[in-house]
Amino acid sequence: MIGDQKVLFSGMQATGNLTLGNYLGALKNWVDIADEYLTFFSVVDLHSITVRQDPAELKKRARTLLTLYIAAGLDPEKNCIYYQSHVSGHAELAWILNCFTYMGELNRMTQFKDKAAKHADNINAGLFTYPVLMAADILLYQADVVPVGKDQLQHLEITRDIAQRFNAIYGDVFTMPEPYMGKAGAKIMSLQDPAKKMSKSDENPNASIYLMDDPDTVIRKFKRAVTDSEAQILYRDEQPGIKNLIDIYSASTGKTPDEVVKEFDGKGYGEFKMAVGEAVVSVLKPLQDRFAELSKDKAYIDGVIKNNAEKAEYYSMKTLRKVQKKVGFPERIR
Ligand code: TRP
Repeated sequence: MIGDQKVLFSGMQATGNLTLGNYLGALKNWVDIADEYLTFFSVVDLHSITVRQDPAELKKRARTLLTLYIAAGLDPEKNCIYYQSHVSGHAELAWILNCFTYMGELNRMTQFKDKAAKHADNINAGLFTYPVLMAADILLYQADVVPVGKDQLQHLEITRDIAQRFNAIYGDVFTMPEPYMGKAGAKIMSLQDPAKKMSKSDENPNASIYLMDDPDTVIRKFKRAVTDSEAQILYRDEQPGIKNLIDIYSASTGKTPDEVVKEFDGKGYGEFKMAVGEAVVSVLKPLQDRFAELSKDKAYIDGVIKNNAEKAEYYSMKTLRKVQKKVGFPERIR
């Protein structure tokens, strides 16, 4: 809480090109609930360097992501949209929280284990303490709710454990954050392997719809989407490919899976795939147009970056100063 307002914090990494899964599963949810909270939406570039990045590429992608936040419908006058690296409080609080987090806790993080296996040549300390930085992001703004995907729930749990531990020692310093999971059905799977999440790091370009894919590409990818030989459009686990297409159609049109099943009763897969493709195109087209328009206005985006970093700085400093005082750092002499 800040004053009498509930706070929402979330962030995304600017690694890889955003997919339809990121949009329908996260960004769109943010837009839908943003009005109810004092919000902070960060481009978490400090997290990104836990894996080696090309500097020019990272910078470009970070700006694209920040612009996409706005193109998706987050009003930067009302929502604080900023780069994590512009607000030093994230790193400063992370350091303090590192001293309240146990190696054993971090060792249990499944994402660390996965990433360590994937980047065996670069298992750096930042990768290990990634969840602590995430805890700092959240606690720095006294967030009440944190929209996250399932894969981040464990990080939210450890955030709560760290907050609890700190509060138990120093009194009520941090708000206890709750995960916000969004609507069911928003988890979008790969078009080529519906057992896997649609991912921006998938090597097969046909597996994911990218937000910047043009209409022809979108339609082509849906035509090639893996289904089954059941020849019936039903919403059930036995038909994961079709189920995923129903979820995508449902999230794109606002219809429930039941309504979608009724709508396509007796229809063929080919026709259904086309309809899903077209529904997705009509979601992406306005987003892409808005993105193109915003990208042209460098001064506007620069202004957003500057003003919102200042706003984030202001709120973050309140928490940081309080924490520094609690742990016994001497007050500044002015
Ligand atoms: N780790 C998150 C992810 O990869 C991104 C993230 C960083 C985040 N800090 C956060 C999400 C704070 C929510 C709150 O998806």
